[in-house]
Amino acid sequence: MAPSRRGFMIGCGAIAASTVLCGRSANCEPAPFTRPLPIPPLIDAAASRHSVKLTASPGEHAFVEGKLTRTYGYSAPILGPAIRVRRGEEVEMVVENNLDAATTVHWHGLLVPGENDGGPQNLIQPGSRWRPILKIDQPAATLWFHPHPHGDTARQIYMGLAGMIIIDDGSEAQLTLPRTFGIDDLPLILQDRSFDQNGSIEYENKSLGPLDIAYGARGDAVIVNGAVAPVARVPAGLVRLRLLNAANAQNFELRFSDGRTFHVIASDGGFLPAPAAVKQLRISPAERFEVLVDFADGKSVTLETGPDEQMGIFGRLAPDGSADFVAMMRFEPTSTAPAIKELPAHLIEPALLSPASAVRRRQFILNSGLCASRSDASTHTDMPALIGINGKPFDMGRIDVETKLGTAEVWEITSIGMAHPFHIHGALFRVLSIEGERPPPHLAGWKDTLLVEDKAELLIAFNQPATQAHPFMYHCHILEHEDAGLMGQYICT
Ligand code: C2O
Ligand code: CU
Repeated sequence: MAPSRRGFMIGCGAIAASTVLCGRSANCEPAPFTRPLPIPPLIDAAASRHSVKLTASPGEHAFVEGKLTRTYGYSAPILGPAIRVRRGEEVEMVVENNLDAATTVHWHGLLVPGENDGGPQNLIQPGSRWRPILKIDQPAATLWFHPHPHGDTARQIYMGLAGMIIIDDGSEAQLTLPRTFGIDDLPLILQDRSFDQNGSIEYENKSLGPLDIAYGARGDAVIVNGAVAPVARVPAGLVRLRLLNAANAQNFELRFSDGRTFHVIASDGGFLPAPAAVKQLRISPAERFEVLVDFADGKSVTLETGPDEQMGIFGRLAPDGSADFVAMMRFEPTSTAPAIKELPAHLIEPALLSPASAVRRRQFILNSGLCASRSDASTHTDMPALIGINGKPFDMGRIDVETKLGTAEVWEITSIGMAHPFHIHGALFRVLSIEGERPPPHLAGWKDTLLVEDKAELLIAFNQPATQAHPFMYHCHILEHEDAGLMGQYICT
């Protein structure tokens, strides 16, 4: 059964206890890379008469070969389809709830009015359906969908509910990019899980303690598209990876075992003006990056993740608790398939928005109740801990912010307790500053989620309506924080 909302107050002493990230799991051995990377089925909305059915239901899935465990999925034992939609299209989503708990489906990153957004107000009771019509009107991007019932989001996503949305807008036609889904254009849904001896992941059996809420659920095994240590056979050329961090709390610090480059071509909201080359790529919960990777040398390579630098000793994934990188999956280039070899020099110029157009500035202080934050340690050590934004825990009956349709605002986000991945519904933003500096190129495009270690200034464009009955959310995307109240609501009229 779904746990009720967990209204925890975490005292500053709680952090003294220790967390073991491996040892209770039987799955920490070095990865074999024998399992082919599972590719979610692609549903092209146009090919299915602009109507897509998603059934949220319980299932059984083996993360580790031979060990079946109870999961949730959308029309699948785990995860869900990738849904391809086109700008200008109207798509009817038919969402059926076959779970034994109420759920919602939120289209993360999609610009649609509040009533279709799938926030906590859009509850679908067990046995019921929800049929929103989504008008697609935004640039090409990689988005995703997941549950958002207040107080039960973390558990439902952990159990397996998440899927990808791919928006096309025709702009790609002028670019030579890999775009054959499942061949040289791969969705990679990155998550972490802890398994017990039977390979089981059931979240409700974990009975969350204050530390689980403070740090969020973190696992000792990384899964990609629902599989532990899979292998992808790819063409020996440029391959596009659509990276989605769908973990409850973990930041992944990605790198390749041989140090090869990630050419970031798109972030949450769409294309960057030109590829941005990085050797290490941090991806926080709910963020997406599209990257091109060059496999033309034909050599196999491992994608690894390092210790979550935001987490101190709690961020370590390696079996012995050391700060080493661990393998997530392997790529094996094959010479057969035709491949794209040229990295494009230019991509798509993102729409301009001048900071001078902002009609107001607001401040938001995100507090997860932990007191041991870097710069804030001295000032907050003796304060009672509270999970909430600007001192208020989430209240579904309270509208926190009123915005004006068609305007832009600057939101200044401050994290207390730890780094929080800030996300806003119904709008995209540009990062004006992060930790007092201009954002690096791969964070300088349109986004809907940003990891804020201390402080960031966001220029947000409000172009979708939301009323009191169906407001938009803004929140920390560490799901245990969100469920515990690190969330607010805004309307836009
Ligand atoms: Cu990814 Cu409020 O959600
Ligand atoms: Cu948080």
